[in-house]
Amino acid sequence: MKISFAEPDLGKKGAIAVGVAEGRALGRAARALDERSGGAVQRALAASKFDGKLGELLDIPGPPGLPQSRIVLYGLGKPQDLIEGKAEDVGGGLLVQLLAVPDAAAAVVVDPDGGLPAPRAAAHMAFGMRLRGYRFDKYRTKIKKEDLPKLDRIVFMVADSADARQAFAPLDKVTDAIFLARDLVAEPPNVIYPESMAQRVRSLTKLGLTVEVLGLKELRKHGMGALLGVAQGAEHEPRVVVMRWNGGPRGKAPIAFIGKGVTFDSGGLSLKTSKGMEDMKWDMAGSAAVVGTMAALAGRRAKANAVGVVGLVENMPSGTAQRPGDIVTSASGQTIEVLNTDAEGRLVLADVLWYCQERFKPVAMIDLATLTGAIITALGVENAGLFANDDALADALLKAGKTSGETVWRMPLAEAYDKLINSDIADVKNIGDGNAGSIVGAQFCKRFVNDVPWAHLDIAGVAWSKKDQPTVPKGATGWGIRLLDRLVRDRYEG
Ligand code: BES
Ligand code: MN
Ligand code: ZN
Repeated sequence: MKISFAEPDLGKKGAIAVGVAEGRALGRAARALDERSGGAVQRALAASKFDGKLGELLDIPGPPGLPQSRIVLYGLGKPQDLIEGKAEDVGGGLLVQLLAVPDAAAAVVVDPDGGLPAPRAAAHMAFGMRLRGYRFDKYRTKIKKEDLPKLDRIVFMVADSADARQAFAPLDKVTDAIFLARDLVAEPPNVIYPESMAQRVRSLTKLGLTVEVLGLKELRKHGMGALLGVAQGAEHEPRVVVMRWNGGPRGKAPIAFIGKGVTFDSGGLSLKTSKGMEDMKWDMAGSAAVVGTMAALAGRRAKANAVGVVGLVENMPSGTAQRPGDIVTSASGQTIEVLNTDAEGRLVLADVLWYCQERFKPVAMIDLATLTGAIITALGVENAGLFANDDALADALLKAGKTSGETVWRMPLAEAYDKLINSDIADVKNIGDGNAGSIVGAQFCKRFVNDVPWAHLDIAGVAWSKKDQPTVPKGATGWGIRLLDRLVRDRYEG
């Protein structure tokens, strides 16, 4: 699907989509089309419930006296409420409508400024369209051409189209990065395992990223006993992958992103049930988000220094698997009593967080992990859990979440929860008493973070979507990349 930007021109064939604000306030283009069609738009409105609320759609096929096959009205809500993520939702919803009609070409008119200047609104609508158009068809051998959408050209018509084109260019790169992350998460666990994932990340050097893969020998050298303990039951060896993007001032400390990359989580000897295991190929979504974020920053040539570190392991039960009761020594030197081998993500993060802070002395660290089922109980699929040892960083993430639409909800960290993971025999144990599961997971990670501002995002509820969303077809969401890209733009660039 080709997306382009041009100055408004109401004389083109194909479908034409025009915006209508809440209360049926027609924009300039909608009014012009209504006039030229002898009132077809007003008649359609009178016969429908369409009000112009954000995301509402009304298809008006065959308007008289016009070259267009149809007019599609899209609701803009209250124009002042149109922030980036909302414009993306409008674009995504509109795409679905346009895919449902037989036209191969469509024009989308974006009228003058609301909450966003029109060129930026157009760019974000186009971004939302691309995001919603994602497909993962690699393993469908029976798809026929006629089952695929006809629509192949969309032109956004907006005054100052050059500005829109310029605003879209980086978002186009971010889309590619999100698709990369979605592909990695959607791939089955017999295809994506630590070595193969590391191999795919290596190919990102073509974007200008530096990629370094640490194998068994190096992981042992760094004393990553916690991560290695998780990996020891699997045939597949673990890997830690380090990605660097240096678009900022030379020598300036980087922002660091850390990802949990459990390419399959069987639970280990603390084996999951069949039902609980079904989805566990996507237990590497945190690492995919980190890879995607780094690809986005490199793709759009962000003026910031960033490092991404992902811990890739498979958590399997076998004769060599770690046992509940084992005590491992982490890279930090702290000993961990592993009482439940299914609480493995925190063991991986423990070593990767430590390694990242020691090696890179980052200005801040943000980790993403499908860490606990409990976060789904607490927040459902509407928000990721945010834990932070720094209020300014937390506030910046809350704000970036609102703007981007990838929202987070802050959860507490406190001494009283930390007590729950004191071990009788080692420095720390990897589970608490069963209550406050997500907080306990975060407290565990915190023991491996020193003074650096740090945030932990528990993304178990948002990494995969069971239903279509405006900018996310059901399946792997690529959650986190829009949020972190927004955060970098707000806080670490320029
Ligand atoms: N990967 C899971 C968390 C998870 C569960 C993500 C369900 C998505 C859906 C994690 O490794 C895990 O198994 N966590 C345990 C922790 C418990 C043993 C303390 C959990 O949530 O049950
Ligand atoms: Mn687990
Ligand atoms: Zn897991």
